[in-house]
Amino acid sequence: MEMLQAFDEAKSGVKGLLDSGIQKLPKIFIRPFEELLQESTNHNHKRENIQVPVIDFCEIWKPDRRKQIVEEVRTASETWGFFQVINHGIPLPVLDGMIEGVREFNEQGLEEKKKYYSRDNTKAVRFISNYDLSWSTTASWRDTLTLSFSDADHPHGNELPPSCREPAIQYSKHVEILGNLILGLLSDGLGLEADSLKNMECSKGHRLHCHYYPPCPEPELAIGIGNHFDAGFLTILLQGHATRGLQVMHEGQWVDIEPVRGTLVVNIGDLLQLVSNGKLRSSGHRAVCNGFGPRISVACFFSGPVNEAKIYGPIKELLSHENPPVYKEVALSEYLVKFFAGGLDNHRALDYFKL
Ligand code: OGA
Ligand code: NI
Repeated sequence: MEMLQAFDEAKSGVKGLLDSGIQKLPKIFIRPFEELLQESTNHNHKRENIQVPVIDFCEIWKPDRRKQIVEEVRTASETWGFFQVINHGIPLPVLDGMIEGVREFNEQGLEEKKKYYSRDNTKAVRFISNYDLSWSTTASWRDTLTLSFSDADHPHGNELPPSCREPAIQYSKHVEILGNLILGLLSDGLGLEADSLKNMECSKGHRLHCHYYPPCPEPELAIGIGNHFDAGFLTILLQGHATRGLQVMHEGQWVDIEPVRGTLVVNIGDLLQLVSNGKLRSSGHRAVCNGFGPRISVACFFSGPVNEAKIYGPIKELLSHENPPVYKEVALSEYLVKFFAGGLDNHRALDYFKL
């Protein structure tokens, strides 16, 4: 606990620790022995020969193409809960700009970064390492800048850190459009009106978690982000293309999600699993560490109007005698209380709302 506290009070994150010259992994980052043991015995079972589906959105405005894409998105979301998208409409310079902005924020002087360090999760802009520090089994080898773009507290341009202000504004605009496009495809895939999920306000506001995973002195002993399920409706993840690390749990085994420049990773979150009554699947995923370079990623979470008590439950049109509800209705505010009541890697708010 003392080490954790000292780490937090330094406000310099994992990168600060590394820059101070450590050669060995500090204790708080070492994963439990049983977990490491299990990992080493399971290692041979890691799947190398399969890949999450890659879906091409090229010519999506053509009705026949759209139909095909809806099918691909539906199948991937029901089986993997993950897919990659190419030709999604977000220009490459916007993606590259976002990654470089995050790099600049993290690689600038410590004093400037510290100004944003905060444990107050109501802040629209904050820099934090291990927001779940006190509840998780192990501290994670990553620093995160979170930028909230919700209707109520849209960060004004001048609140955003200068190092990534412009790229973040640009990326946010584009990713919101893409998020709505994907919600439309998913609505269609569920047999609903195309604007159903959007009208339910699944994309009202979004939050960017800009992760910086420094190179790790003992990468196999640490974890970048432990196995977890995303709590919101939908996540769009941008990965820097230099370094792999993201893995999804599929049919009981970890599968690497290769970072490819220009490609975005999309995954179904727990709330979409809930409103689709389990038809769409939210899958466990994690990011492993590496020993050579920083890995940068930007997760955009669409989690609905998080400051409101709006109620979500399985969509009525999807229910029938053969398909009774498997989840309860939940007020978003109540769901968030459950989410913040535990660590990311050992706790899932969705579990409280199963019938
Ligand atoms: C997340 C997440 C993975 C990554 O932020 O929820 O899963 O590659 N991130 O950074
Ligand atoms: Ni995640």
